[in-house]
Amino acid sequence: MKILAIETSCDETSCAVVEDGRVVLSNVTATQIDEHSLYGGVVPEIASRRHCENIVGVCEAALVEADCRISRDIDAVAVTYAPGLIGALLVGVNFAKGLAAAHDKPLIPVHHIKAHIASNYLSGECRPPFLAVVVSGGHTSLIHARDYTDFSVIGATLDDAAGEAFDKAARAMGFPYPGGVYIDRESVNGDAHAYKLPFPKTANSFDFSFSGLKTAVINLIHNTKQTGGSVNAPDLAASFQYTVCEMITSKAIAAARHAGADTLCLSGGVAANGGLRAALLRECDANGFTLHAPPLCYCGDNAAMVGSQAYYEYTSTILTADMSLNAYATLGL
Ligand code: KG4
Ligand code: ZN
Repeated sequence: MKILAIETSCDETSCAVVEDGRVVLSNVTATQIDEHSLYGGVVPEIASRRHCENIVGVCEAALVEADCRISRDIDAVAVTYAPGLIGALLVGVNFAKGLAAAHDKPLIPVHHIKAHIASNYLSGECRPPFLAVVVSGGHTSLIHARDYTDFSVIGATLDDAAGEAFDKAARAMGFPYPGGVYIDRESVNGDAHAYKLPFPKTANSFDFSFSGLKTAVINLIHNTKQTGGSVNAPDLAASFQYTVCEMITSKAIAAARHAGADTLCLSGGVAANGGLRAALLRECDANGFTLHAPPLCYCGDNAAMVGSQAYYEYTSTILTADMSLNAYATLGL
C-alpha cells in the first residue's frame, strides 16, 4: 500500500510517499528555518504563508522522486491534523482533503506525536510494544506504545518541552534559532561538570520540568556578566546538555521498567542530540534494554513518519476521515 503523506504542523513543508509503513520511496522537505531564525523563533503567520506557497511544489517533487502518479499508484492520502500551529496545520489538512476528493482516495488523519514515534519504523526492525521517548520542540513525553495504535502517556513535561529548553538556553548563550544543534556541537569541547545546574523534581516522577533549568542558565549568564566575568560557552553548553540528557535518560529507564517494556524508542527533533543518544544507549546497555533511534534525517519534522503511522492507522482501524476533517492546535493521544 502506497501512501502520500503531508506534514505542515510547524515550519517544515514535507511530503512523502511511503510503502507499507516501512519503505520510504520519497521524502521531500522545504524548511523555513532561515527565515524564522531572523525573528528568534517560529512566526506562525509566516509559517502558514510559506506552507501555502511551497506545498504544491513539494508534493509534486515527492511524487516525481517516488515515480508515482496519484491516480495510478497512490492508495491513500495522509495528513498531520494535530497538534501544532493551527494556521500551519490547516494548510496541510485542506490540501490533503483537496487531493483525496479530486482523486477519490481515502484520507487518513495522523497525530503528530504518533508520527514521531513511527519514525522508528522507517529503519530497522522496530516493532511495538516499547517505551517511546518523544523529545521535540513542542513535546517531551514518555509513552507506552502497546501496539501501533494503542498508547498510554506515562509522563510529560509540566512546562517547557526539551527542545524549547534547548532553544531558550541557546538563545541566552547567543546562538541562533533553533539552538539545540549549536548546544550539541559546542558541548563536544566542554566539561559537563563545570557548572552545577538544578535537577528539578516533579510530583509524578515520570513528568519533566525544564523551565527552572532554563532560568538557571539565564541567571548564571546574567550574574557572571554583572560581576565582570565571562561564561565559558562550551562548559555551559556541556553542563546544560548533560543535565537535560540525564533527566530524560533516568526517567525513561524508570518508565520502561514501570511499563514492563524491554525496548525504548527515541524520537523527535531532540533525538538528533549526540549526548542524549549516547546517554540512553549507555543506560539501555547497562539495564538490558534495546534502544531504537531513527536516523538523523527522520528526527525532525518530516512526512515519511506521517506515512508510516498512517499505514498502521489504516490497516488496524480502517478509520478514515471525511471532508469535514479539521485541524487542532492541541489534542491528546
Ligand atoms: O520535532 P521537531 O523538528 O519539531 C517539533 O515537532 O517540535 O523538533 C525541533 C526541536 C528544536 O527545538 C531544535 O532545537 C531541536 O529539536 N533539535 C535539537 C537538535 N537538533 C534539533 N536539540 C538538541 N540537539 C540537537 N542536535
Ligand atoms: Zn515534530
